[in-house]
Amino acid sequence: MTEETSSQFEPIIVGFTCNWCSYRAADSAGLARIKYPPNIRLIRLMCSGRLDPQFVLKAFAEGADGVMVTGCHPGDCHYSDQNYKTLRRFKLLDRTLQQRGLEPERIKLVWASAAEGMILADEITQFVDEIRSVGPLNWPKWEEVSPIKIEDLAVVEKE
Ligand code: FES
Repeated sequence: MTEETSSQFEPIIVGFTCNWCSYRAADSAGLARIKYPPNIRLIRLMCSGRLDPQFVLKAFAEGADGVMVTGCHPGDCHYSDQNYKTLRRFKLLDRTLQQRGLEPERIKLVWASAAEGMILADEITQFVDEIRSVGPLNWPKWEEVSPIKIEDLAVVEKE
């Protein structure tokens, strides 16, 4: 990456949020006028456990330079233990993506309660800076990406 590219590069980040915690944390950050970079596009899920690995692949294939997955703190999930499954799947997804050549810095998991707007804003700011230093991602287009099915990760979960 050239110096010129580095100074002009504004990464696109997709942030998957949980309706009950991190989405509300982002909302409360906004209400409290806590600033975070506009590079992130938030997508609300009802729970981090709803995150399908295909969502992450599609985000990268559609132009995201980084993906942040957020959810309720372990033990606080509104759907029992779904975020523990998220944690296990995230590790497997991270490993799978690295095997496909993705830099580990490009995907991040963050726990944030509804009251932690400041913490979430700090995490977003830090993540945008990290992705800015890694540079643009030239990921294959969606039609060229072979899928990672949730069942594939679920099979490994049972080991
Ligand atoms: S309800 Fe928030 S992670 Fe499950």
